Amino acid sequence: RVAGPCVLVLFGVTGDLARKKLLPAIYDLANRGLLPPGFSLVGFARRDWKDQDFAQLTHDAVKEHARTPFREEVWKQLSEGIFFCPGEFTDDGAFDALAMMLKEIDETRGTGGNYGFYLSVPPKFFPVVVEQLKRTDLAHGPKESWRRVVIEKPFGHNLQSARELNEITSAVFPESSVFRIDHYLGKETVQNILALRFANNLFEPIWNRGYVDHVQITMAEDIGIGGRAGYYDGIGAARDVIQNHLLQLLALVGMEDPTSFDASSLRREKEKVLKAVRLPSDLSLSTARGRYGAGWQGGQPVIGYTQEEGISPDSITETYAAIKLEIANRRWAGVPFYLRTGKRLGRRVTEVAVMFQRAPHLPFSKDDTEILGQNALVIRVQPDEGITVRFGSKVPGTAMEVRDVSMDFAYGESFMESSPEAHERLLLDVLIGDPPLFPHQREVELSWKILDPIEEFWASQGAPEEYPAGTWGPKSADELMARDGRAWRRL
Ligand code: BG6
Repeated sequence: RVAGPCVLVLFGVTGDLARKKLLPAIYDLANRGLLPPGFSLVGFARRDWKDQDFAQLTHDAVKEHARTPFREEVWKQLSEGIFFCPGEFTDDGAFDALAMMLKEIDETRGTGGNYGFYLSVPPKFFPVVVEQLKRTDLAHGPKESWRRVVIEKPFGHNLQSARELNEITSAVFPESSVFRIDHYLGKETVQNILALRFANNLFEPIWNRGYVDHVQITMAEDIGIGGRAGYYDGIGAARDVIQNHLLQLLALVGMEDPTSFDASSLRREKEKVLKAVRLPSDLSLSTARGRYGAGWQGGQPVIGYTQEEGISPDSITETYAAIKLEIANRRWAGVPFYLRTGKRLGRRVTEVAVMFQRAPHLPFSKDDTEILGQNALVIRVQPDEGITVRFGSKVPGTAMEVRDVSMDFAYGESFMESSPEAHERLLLDVLIGDPPLFPHQREVELSWKILDPIEEFWASQGAPEEYPAGTWGPKSADELMARDGRAWRRL
């Protein structure tokens, strides 16, 4: 899998995502030999820059954030294809210059009119950029070439805005040329959910309501909102990551086996699960939200959410959200899926824990077995990537004592190969034109249909409950589980 000749045009090159993820990912692809020799990168931004300035920014970003070692010869070849086009998104002249520049690159570097346009910009700029690509005819190339547009989440902030956003892109680009990035789908461990389930025969027979008690999907972060107040406030934890990353994880864990790994089979199965998701009737009992107050993180005092720069003291945005969902189908009826996410929690960890029903009968004495936990299969998405299976085992000795033990698969121990960073994998897929790992608009809309009623309910509830930074979220989240006679996994 190697990309063919093409140009990647990056809008929003001065943003955090470009510096930390996209530019390093392009270098890593080049370093692994996955980009063609004429590959070219064009940055577009409102800066009075020359090509060298953008190349310097890329160089610094690569040095700081690339996964693979820095090699002078790789950098030299890549940097020869780095160009910069200065301008505002509203400036027709700048886009005319971009079109000219791309034509010239085609002639000098043999990129064949194949362009990917990566919109690493806030959604409010999508309409104007897409409109400019249409006006300059950059959205449609000659017959044998391709044009693709890449958009990053958030795909709107509710169902209606997601539809409006889609109307804007679909008026210019056909659905097959739109690549929506949910970077969780680019993670090695997330793709492995499908391998675990469908490349084996060990797990699938018990992957259902007959054996599974419930599923916990956790995405915990230790960081706060950093400098992202402008984006985050009014959005909150549920829109930021449950609508996309966590519901995608739920879909992968809950779906039936796709007939193949092509985009339409995979998306069809994910859509079926998302369509079957049901919210419990009383949202006050089945959801919880919170926001971090001042506390401690890594031995350092940290400020609370409403003290962060740019956040109003009256904000009612949540930084923690927990939701109980059910999937109304034959496989999952009656099995709750608990989703939780939060910032400034105890530590950074994302995992999917499939918790099994307890053994129906215990032939050992009650005292010995009471301490046993439930059998669990835990997919450690990050960090410490791997899978753990937890079960009870006899403690060596003359008594029949049983204790929890675990069996562990760790990527670092089983594989010599290193995982590409999520954006690296997804960028390559865009350049190759391979869509399975990109959510379809229908998935985006189904996810908003799940979240919209919850957001509406929360909006009527005032400020969220505060939890001290560095702890595991608000009390109401623990109470949600306790009402069901369950508890969150301690992480
Ligand atoms: C992004 C969210 O999508 O994912 C951020 O907008 C979050 O708020 C980030 O911090 C987490 O990504 P990862 O890959 O570090 O888990």
